[in-house]
Amino acid sequence: MRELILAIESSCDETSVAVIEDGSQILSNIVASQIKSHQRFGGVVPEVASRHHVEQITLCINEALEEAGVEIAELSAVAVTQGPGLVGSLLIGISAAKAFAWAHGLPLIPVNHMAGHIYAARFVQPLVFPLLALLVSGGHTELVLMEEDGSFKIIGETRDDAAGEAYDKVGRVLGLPYPSGKEIDRLAHIGKDSYAFPRAMIHEDNFDFSFSGLKSAFINLVHNAEQREETLSTEDLAASFQASVVDVLVAKTVRACQKYPVKQLIVAGGVAANQGLREALEKVVSEELPEVDLLIPPLRLCGDNAAMIGAAAHVELAKGHLANMTLNAVPSLAFSRK
Ligand code: KG4
Ligand code: ZN
Repeated sequence: MRELILAIESSCDETSVAVIEDGSQILSNIVASQIKSHQRFGGVVPEVASRHHVEQITLCINEALEEAGVEIAELSAVAVTQGPGLVGSLLIGISAAKAFAWAHGLPLIPVNHMAGHIYAARFVQPLVFPLLALLVSGGHTELVLMEEDGSFKIIGETRDDAAGEAYDKVGRVLGLPYPSGKEIDRLAHIGKDSYAFPRAMIHEDNFDFSFSGLKSAFINLVHNAEQREETLSTEDLAASFQASVVDVLVAKTVRACQKYPVKQLIVAGGVAANQGLREALEKVVSEELPEVDLLIPPLRLCGDNAAMIGAAAHVELAKGHLANMTLNAVPSLAFSRK
């Protein structure tokens, strides 16, 4: 009999519901984005996000089942993001998942959002262990070592801002709409790396990152130019910023792959959509790490979505990691550090 998981994701500003078959096939993946409601505030407003989730969640569940052509009676389990994320947003998904599971007598599977980002790669290819995942999103920048399904150890992480957060903050200084990663990526391909921004911690013998110094250097350069009434090239600023972020991410990731004999390198999270990062990693992996298979999910699976939660839930279900009706949101849920 086929395993069908109804997966729910509501950790930030996307309400998403998917139906996943055997952890590897997407029958439906509905994503209702709220970005337009948050743009005028320059970031996600938690209270506004929760209200949108409440309005969308039932519609998304119905749409996901309909698009998949699946009856409720055919479902094997319900999965939901438990954390990390905004507590008010997480609680909407969790309440909906609990109600659905209880009403239909289905097992309930709690899923770590970051594990979901990694398992988005499962839709490209089966995972082979040990593997390393570079997780780069709006809230996280981590190098995660996986020795087997469902086991996650952080070997390096950011000490301050996440990569996506840095993109969004410098985007605001450039007057770009939130979130600005995609637009900076586009501008970077037109401009030149001419402003010599710092590459923090690039030579340090660890796998940690820091992006706040780069962000300050960027903001100071722009403000000083404004005071002197000089005009800087937006494209060159974007290219210089992106080159600094990509250089550090790539250097540390390559070194981690050299230290740990991994078979696959997965790049995941919203910033995995970055063309500059994808191109740089493709080049360096083919030239310097021929034994490593690079797996990057397609663009539509890099941002937040419920399909990835369904893929991670398949592993949790096999391990018997289920929750009961006391399941609660864990806003700071994190992998442990190796
Ligand atoms: O994973 P995600 O959708 O949400 C979180 O869990 O945080 O990541 C969103 C982040 C935002 O900071 C956004 O600016 C960034 O991903 N992002 C990008 C690109 N597309 C989205 N950053 C750089 N280049 C992109 N092409
Ligand atoms: Zn995310």
